[in-house]
Amino acid sequence: MARFSGKVAIVTGGGSGIGAATAVRLGSEGAAVVVSDLNEGGAQEVAARIVAAGGRAIAVRTDVSDEAQVAATVDRAVAEYGGLDVMVNNAGIGVVEGDIDTFELAAWQRVIGVNLTGVYLGLKHAVRAMKVGGRKGAVVNVASILGHVGFAHSAAYVASKHGVLGLTKAAALELAPLGIRVVAAAPAFIRTPLIGGMEDAVRPLHPMKRLGEPDEVAALICFLASDEASFITGASYLVYGGYVAQ
Ligand code: NAI
Repeated sequence: MARFSGKVAIVTGGGSGIGAATAVRLGSEGAAVVVSDLNEGGAQEVAARIVAAGGRAIAVRTDVSDEAQVAATVDRAVAEYGGLDVMVNNAGIGVVEGDIDTFELAAWQRVIGVNLTGVYLGLKHAVRAMKVGGRKGAVVNVASILGHVGFAHSAAYVASKHGVLGLTKAAALELAPLGIRVVAAAPAFIRTPLIGGMEDAVRPLHPMKRLGEPDEVAALICFLASDEASFITGASYLVYGGYVAQ
């Protein structure tokens, strides 16, 4: 089944973890993929994997907190592949930060700048491209279980992910009449470099007593981005091993 045949997708933070798994899945299901990442080497590796498997992909270095770079990445996708159908705003940093009374303002601004402003910029420029010619599209924002509940010593990360859910709802309402869907995927702890060193501490928080795998989140993101999710917008979907079911 090639759910993304003829479609064009951008995945931010596509050079590692959840973004890499999502880019590879999108490519294997027919999408032309722009693998965008601050880490150009990671993006190139993932794009090469997609191409080696018979798909279409390019790598683009982008800092999602820089508007000019985000705009240029969207323009590159349009120039290379003729439009944009799927935007996955996945790039993110942070999690454990330290005490709220000693956490530096610059570090707070960096987390908000990447995790929240970065999603806003991706959304803004993706929608600009999707509106051209009345093309419909889907934007999937990667939030977190920490967009739904709190976590001590992670104030900026938690605030940024709660912000992503608010942004998702507001944009979904504005864009629903145009047929552009905006949704969020909210994973619990997933085995990626982002949480390196925390695995033993967070594993027991999940009733399934394990962390999630990047591809288990990619499966949700690709469903939400596909036409199978055609009546889904403005919502956040949990992929969390039962994290807050109890
Ligand atoms: P990761 O660290 O494996 O991948 C993140 C990628 O984003 C990296 O390739 C990194 O170079 C890139 N990146 C960082 N800053 C960037 C910037 N300014 N511009 C462009 N790219 C940038 O992390 P992971 O786990 O795959 O995270 C992906 C998303 O999933 C993030 O938004 C994260 O907050 C979210 N998430 C992760 C969870 C986890 O437990 N791993 C749980 C819930 C959400």
